[in-house]
Amino acid sequence: MEAASTESIPVVDLADLRSEGGPERAAAALRRAFGEFGLVYVQNHGVDTEVLERFYDDWVELTQRSEEEKRSWARADVWYQRGWTPPNTEQAVVAGGQPDFKECYFAAPMALDERCRLMFPEIYAENSWPQGADRFRDDYLALGKAVHEVGMDLLRGCASALDLPSDIFSAATEGGPHVTRALRYLALDDQQVGTSILWGEEHTDFNLLTLLPGGRFYDPAGKRCERPDAASGLYLRARATAEHPKGRMVHGKPPAGCLVAQVGQQLEILTGGVFQATPHVITPPKQPGYTRTALAHFIHLHSERRLFPHDRFLSEETILAYGPPVLAGTYGLKTLVDIGLAPKTALNKLGYHHYDRLADARS
Ligand SMILES: [Fe+2]
Repeated sequence: MEAASTESIPVVDLADLRSEGGPERAAAALRRAFGEFGLVYVQNHGVDTEVLERFYDDWVELTQRSEEEKRSWARADVWYQRGWTPPNTEQAVVAGGQPDFKECYFAAPMALDERCRLMFPEIYAENSWPQGADRFRDDYLALGKAVHEVGMDLLRGCASALDLPSDIFSAATEGGPHVTRALRYLALDDQQVGTSILWGEEHTDFNLLTLLPGGRFYDPAGKRCERPDAASGLYLRARATAEHPKGRMVHGKPPAGCLVAQVGQQLEILTGGVFQATPHVITPPKQPGYTRTALAHFIHLHSERRLFPHDRFLSEETILAYGPPVLAGTYGLKTLVDIGLAPKTALNKLGYHHYDRLADARS
């Protein structure tokens, strides 16, 4: 795998986005980071790392409970959009049938739009929690909210960087189906190490912006440890160039204390591809027994917002690439079918679904 130097991914200082004179520096960093890599490192983000540490401890403890108990937290009825996602449930669209090697938890930290809940009950479902996990729940929601605010600052920075009204993206997310995911990447055994098994197969995120406040590795004894080998972790595929027509793979290694933000498909569409949704892959260590925890917060457009390039970015090329326009909610529904979480019948909602009415009247 060809890797560029990790230093080439820009760092944006959140303090710059909030200060006089700093925004232009931040805008330049965001234009290059999201234009070339689809990913930026964020410093001075203000997310409480002590709470994050405690949260990971609690999450690891929960993953060690019995399979039977964990199954009781799984919510197939809401397409696993809340509660526990068992291993082998979700698969990346281009994975060729290879499910990811991970278990997850899903919860929504923000208030949900009640009208959208009627239209998309699974995507706007109420949170559910394990018994006796109050601190896990409280830290989960607090972290989700804190990371969401970082995302709002970045979205305002993105809009300014593109000379658009500063709240054009952030305002379009209000009441959207934002969701925070706790992840645990599973240990590979002797036979699985060195095979094609990945912790997360290459994909692009289907939401607007994804925030990753930094994960933790654990050794085979379950003790916190450093990255077990230099190659394990997140790789992204940078934008294709004449020199690298398939885009070079870049190892994402955030500087200490930085959070990672990634462009999702929705932001790529709105910007007509000026910002690129990053294909990324999570590679497991080369030795058996290692695990990793992570937290990811997914910011979405409100489900009734239109997904189509902003006027500024409309051209024959972008219309061909991103048309026809669809609503963010219907876009999400199709994606959940594509990745194997929602049944194909969910797509019946996307057009006229009252044919029975006439059939009943005629019977
Ligand atoms: Fe992802």
